Amino acid sequence: MKRFEGKVAIVTGGGGGIGSAISRRLAQEGALVVVSDMNGEAAGVVAADIEAVGGVAVAFAADISQKDACFRLVENAVALKGRVDVLINNAGINRRGNLLSLTDDDWHVSFTVNLDSMFHLCRAVIPHMIAAGGGAIVNTASQWGLYPAPNHIAYNTTKAAVAAFTQNLARDYAPDKIRVNAVCPGEIHTPMLEAGVKRSGRTIADLDKLVPFGRIGKPEEVAALVAFLASDEAAFMCGSLVEITGAQAVA
Ligand SMILES: NC(=O)c1ccc[n+]([C@@H]2O[C@H](COP(=O)([O-])OP(=O)(O)OC[C@H]3O[C@@H](n4cnc5c(N)ncnc54)[C@H](O)[C@@H]3O)[C@@H](O)[C@H]2O)c1
Repeated sequence: MKRFEGKVAIVTGGGGGIGSAISRRLAQEGALVVVSDMNGEAAGVVAADIEAVGGVAVAFAADISQKDACFRLVENAVALKGRVDVLINNAGINRRGNLLSLTDDDWHVSFTVNLDSMFHLCRAVIPHMIAAGGGAIVNTASQWGLYPAPNHIAYNTTKAAVAAFTQNLARDYAPDKIRVNAVCPGEIHTPMLEAGVKRSGRTIADLDKLVPFGRIGKPEEVAALVAFLASDEAAFMCGSLVEITGAQAVA
């Protein structure tokens, strides 16, 4: 399938576990992918891998906790072909802690990276999408934003806010044919999850047992969902929060 032929897509956190899978998937389906990450080297590796198998990708280092960097990212993407059709707001961080154990910095940086970045990136990209007659935005929320896991109050609250932000944006810009949706993944095997597992002293096998499906998810499985939501096949999906959890969310 080539659902993104001729389209330009930005993926934030494109050097990470889920973001690299999304970047590869969109490129396989014909998109010119702007693989963006604070870790410019990781973004470069993903872009080079995409090009090595015949795709088209550009790496762009950007720390999206900075408003200026968000606007620069979008302007650089627009400069490639005069348009941005798809924005995947995927980058995120997970600071562990409850109300009393978190630092002020943990709280603020969680909001800056997980939520404020989406505010700035969407403000930068939406005027271009309106001018082009539409577009698609997919935000990465989390199962924990809907059903909080213990000891992650900052992360969970930012992801609940991402869900609300998604619904508000969808409501406001649906008349402009901009579809905004969010994915709410459960446990997905990525570097972020590995770091969490290490901190908690658990193993991947322990997590597998918590999922009714019998295993945690793969980045490629989230990428397939994101690609669907970003594609014209999801033409009437706007304002949806789609869970992808192997039934853990309903366990
Ligand atoms: N892995 C999971 O189980 C899981 C579950 C639910 C939601 N999510 C969400 O999925 C998204 C991707 O997570 P992942 O598991 O692939 O994690 P990851 O750590 O593998 O990737 C995250 C990427 O974001 C980048 N990043 C972090 N801060 C940034 C910043 N300020 N500017 C630019 N880039 C920055 C990192 O460099 C990294 O490459 C996150 O939003 C995360 O909250 C993950």
